[in-house]
Amino acid sequence: MEVFHPIPLDVMQIGEKTVVDLFILHEGRHMPFLGTDGVFTREHLAELSRFGITKVYIRGGDARAFEKYVHDFSEMILNDPTIPPRVKEATFYVSASHALRKAMIDPGQERFEEIRKTIRPMLRNIMVNKVLLNDLFAITEHDFITYTHSINVGIYATALVMNLNGGENAASMESLERQCYGYFLHDIGKCMMPLSILKKPGKLSEEEWVVMRKHPQWGYAILMETGFLTDEAAYISMQHHERPDGSGYPFGMTDIHPCARICAFADIFDALISERPYKSPMKPLDAIEVLKKEIYTDFDRTLVDTFTRMLGLNEEQMPLPRVAAGM
Ligand SMILES: [Fe+2]
Ligand SMILES: [Fe+2]
Repeated sequence: MEVFHPIPLDVMQIGEKTVVDLFILHEGRHMPFLGTDGVFTREHLAELSRFGITKVYIRGGDARAFEKYVHDFSEMILNDPTIPPRVKEATFYVSASHALRKAMIDPGQERFEEIRKTIRPMLRNIMVNKVLLNDLFAITEHDFITYTHSINVGIYATALVMNLNGGENAASMESLERQCYGYFLHDIGKCMMPLSILKKPGKLSEEEWVVMRKHPQWGYAILMETGFLTDEAAYISMQHHERPDGSGYPFGMTDIHPCARICAFADIFDALISERPYKSPMKPLDAIEVLKKEIYTDFDRTLVDTFTRMLGLNEEQMPLPRVAAGM
């Protein structure tokens, strides 16, 4: 059976060719709406909106071509002050997924430069308009491709930083940008792992865990080689699986950088609320209860309190059952 992916209508470019076939869902069936190379017009948008349609569908096999289409326009969209936040959020999500997927297949400076091009204007938008971040937080359900785990963790961690201390003394743009490379790329070391482990539809064996525990060091090495290793990204990539009681990996260290703790909480949260072949997704507020068991320090407590407050703001928007990449 053919697989179709939903895509938010907001990422469609008016007046541009679609590059893939578009479908709409009608009475449970995917009906052709606009063929490849058809120009998506304002009339198309009006027609869909009239029927309350907010999503179109593409074939699963077209996902990469479509991501590229969105990514090609993303810099212009994210930098344009006249484009509504909703459109920017959807564009950022698809575009960042595209850049991250490519970086994980072939991690190199050029790839990371593409991620920078997506993250930097998005952060600028977030700094001037925090509402955007709340919406971005809720958009994480827009999942039709892999690598969403990295984006989700990047979004949750950025939201945590921005909301720490009740949003007072928020990080500067430069500091946030240095951290963000770490959050969005925290699992980049997994690109060195065999797919048989990465995509295993069940729990890992002890031998497989030995390999898994290496991804923080591999990530650190990749970021260093490509010149993307900010101080913060170094701590985040290396320490996001360390735990203050020494039970983490790769070194079992107890003195953990605050940015790595922020990443750890975002990481655990996304894993808990994601569907896996061997477990159902947890409700966000239940996931918070699990996070509370990870509190070792006053800073940890502050992070969980901040997370709880953020979810309170978005609670009704937050049922996010979906399949995500591994922790
Ligand atoms: Fe990880
Ligand atoms: Fe992770």
